[in-house]
Amino acid sequence: MAHSGELLSGDQPVETPMGATPAPPLFKKEGKMTTYTDKGEKHEQGKFLCFDHLTFWVGNAKQAASYYCNKLGFEPVAYQGLETGNRDVVSHVVKQGKIMYVFSSALNPGNKEMGEHLIKHGDGVKDVAFTVEDCDYLVQKARGRGAFIVREPYTLEDKHGKVTLAVLQTYGDTTHTLVERTSYSGLFLPGFKPPLHKDPLLAKLPSGKLNFIDHVVGNQGDDEMVPVVEWYQRNLLFHRFWSVDDKQLQTEFSALRSIVVANYEETVKMPINEPATGKRKSQIQASEYVEYYGGAGVQHIAMNTSDIITAIRNLKERGMEFMCVPDTYYDQLRENLKHSKVQITEDLDVLQDLKILVDYDDNGYLLQIFTKPVQDRPTVFLEVIQRHNHKGFGAGNFKSLFEAIEADQNARGNLTILTPNVSKSI
Ligand SMILES: [Fe+2]
Repeated sequence: MAHSGELLSGDQPVETPMGATPAPPLFKKEGKMTTYTDKGEKHEQGKFLCFDHLTFWVGNAKQAASYYCNKLGFEPVAYQGLETGNRDVVSHVVKQGKIMYVFSSALNPGNKEMGEHLIKHGDGVKDVAFTVEDCDYLVQKARGRGAFIVREPYTLEDKHGKVTLAVLQTYGDTTHTLVERTSYSGLFLPGFKPPLHKDPLLAKLPSGKLNFIDHVVGNQGDDEMVPVVEWYQRNLLFHRFWSVDDKQLQTEFSALRSIVVANYEETVKMPINEPATGKRKSQIQASEYVEYYGGAGVQHIAMNTSDIITAIRNLKERGMEFMCVPDTYYDQLRENLKHSKVQITEDLDVLQDLKILVDYDDNGYLLQIFTKPVQDRPTVFLEVIQRHNHKGFGAGNFKSLFEAIEADQNARGNLTILTPNVSKSI
């Protein structure tokens, strides 16, 4: 997993006049991965600051919010529903560190939009919201470049201040809300009230230790990755931050292409995945996800921690279920680390005991672990990640992760040999 660096100067060769300073390299290829140094165009006004919150559309928001509180260490922070004068949609907002999730459900029979979303996708992420500066300008820019504006900028206000929002359409039925908070001091957004109920159990459980959203991954159907990446480049002025070479990222059955797009400041990172041709279908290669989600959508949300060992110990104690890699993964890791300059400061025996994965290069490493899907459909799952001077996304672990997921897929009857005319489950 140690990668030798090789500097390249971009997709297309650039002619440099004699004596002129050569153009700086646009990307750096290291083994399986490519990191990019060209941040592209910067917005003349306004900027994307960070992830603001994610909104899940679910069948039963009250129970979904309770699951995230009980299993993952979130706390109820705000509420909207019948008691606050919202007659159509109920929303429970939960928070941990800077991470905010909203769980929304329809209150009345006949809510066509939310009902059809639920029939098609099951519980899932409807919206990924970004905190921005100058919402009006960013929307105007995106509109001018061809983005579909679901909702034009509008302002909400209460005694705690003002917030301007707008909604853009992205992949599948997923949207992006832009949130401009002008020194807003309320719990969440204007109109939200404190939660109705404080669960006494939560204070007795160990902390989830999760701090902020590290990245949000969007799974796409076949050949849809590049058009989606270009949507972010064109409409939001995001740039390519990192990518993986599918040819080396496969098991016998699963293969994946991934390009990570980021805002200019690189505080918002969105990996965009598509399946590469494999012998069988698989969740990570997006096929099983896309089949069960009914199209493109958010596949996983990675949450950053500064103490993954305590976090995972505590989350397991709370009953959260995680993917398991075999002990041979750690035998191989110990062997590989003998040839690397990197020093892992955590105890490998503890990492092995908790099944935390390690990916590294000569300069740093990351620790990560993935949950099992968090609803009955094998669609959305979560990641916990800790970074030590490493900006990757765990490419060195994809193979082990594929294998762990394939074992679960096999149990679900979804590991299928793909042949030109016949598909059969094994
Ligand atoms: Fe991830």
